[in-house]
Amino acid sequence: MAGIRLGPDDSEISQQSRAAPADLISDDDRSVAADSWSIKSDYGSTLDDDQRHADAAEDLSAANLRAPSDYSSDKEEPDSDGMTSMLGLQSYWDAAYADELVNFREHGHAGEVWFGADVMEVVASWTKTLCIDVSQGRMPNHVDNSKSESAEQGYKFLSGWSVLDIGTGNGLLLQELSKQGFSDLTGIDYSEGAIDLARNLADRDGLPNIHFLVDDILETKLERQFQLVVDKGTLDAIGLHPDGAIKRLIYWDSVSRLMAPGGILVITSCNSTKEELVQEVENFNQRRIGVIQDQEGCKDTAPQLQYLSHVRTYPTFMFGGSVGSRVATVAFLRN
Ligand SMILES: C[S@@+](CC[C@H](N)C(=O)[O-])C[C@H]1O[C@@H](n2cnc3c(N)ncnc32)[C@H](O)[C@@H]1O
Repeated sequence: MAGIRLGPDDSEISQQSRAAPADLISDDDRSVAADSWSIKSDYGSTLDDDQRHADAAEDLSAANLRAPSDYSSDKEEPDSDGMTSMLGLQSYWDAAYADELVNFREHGHAGEVWFGADVMEVVASWTKTLCIDVSQGRMPNHVDNSKSESAEQGYKFLSGWSVLDIGTGNGLLLQELSKQGFSDLTGIDYSEGAIDLARNLADRDGLPNIHFLVDDILETKLERQFQLVVDKGTLDAIGLHPDGAIKRLIYWDSVSRLMAPGGILVITSCNSTKEELVQEVENFNQRRIGVIQDQEGCKDTAPQLQYLSHVRTYPTFMFGGSVGSRVATVAFLRN
């Protein structure tokens, strides 16, 4: 849960959601996990909504990550005390999207919207305003007011923005960004089922120009750079792999290289607060500077990221004396 730290007792919950090896995941386990990651969707589901929509944020939080400050350490071996979950495994997502495809084919359902439709809409409209501000040379100290530009002006500024959605799932965030005026849209996911579903949905919804590719962000084959990179829930999932800490480092390296100079990353997480994400990026920058300094004569002008803005309109609540919100959306700018 973004903004909320787990208390000591919660570690027991985390232990319960430790990942099973991929080939040991039973259908029962899978359906329990699916129940817990399925935040309310307005897009249709065959399962019993009352039963199945246990909060995915709770599930990811229950399998919470260690503090991002730890990532600055030199530990390279798998993180034995890090919290893991089935949601960190590709086998989990392959099985989940196989089910979603059946639901789509039999019932026309689009599947789950990670963190819910409200968050998706906020992310899309906030991102649009942010990109328009940056296009106009306004560095935002961002107030969430997505109505500041007319739709016409929006389209003018946004047509030049190439967009990459990492771990796109059913691709609905890209559809929402398309409605906001972005037109050069690419989604990647390492699960073939996700890409199959996303393509089917985009065709059905009259958006065949969105590009979808099977690609693992940690071993990406993409050769182009993007002005805008978005991630909703994917870093959270990556961090839940048994080697999550190392994979998060690879993630930042890969993402920063896929961003064009002056490009923006908009990342939405239920497992890290805004402050934690900013700290994680800062640690990553420092680590990278150290590596470059160690390599004498190295010409690698590795990209650096800096905090740009964050969504301030998500509802907050008190928990254990701290104020937090269920999700955090943070934007970073590449140099
Ligand atoms: C929590 S879901 C979010 C899906 C989508 N972004 C959304 O908001 O609905 C995480 C997604 O990340 C994908 N994923 C996880 N690790 C990945 C990786 N290394 N490369 C590409 N996709 C990945 C999963 O297949 C899954 O679709």
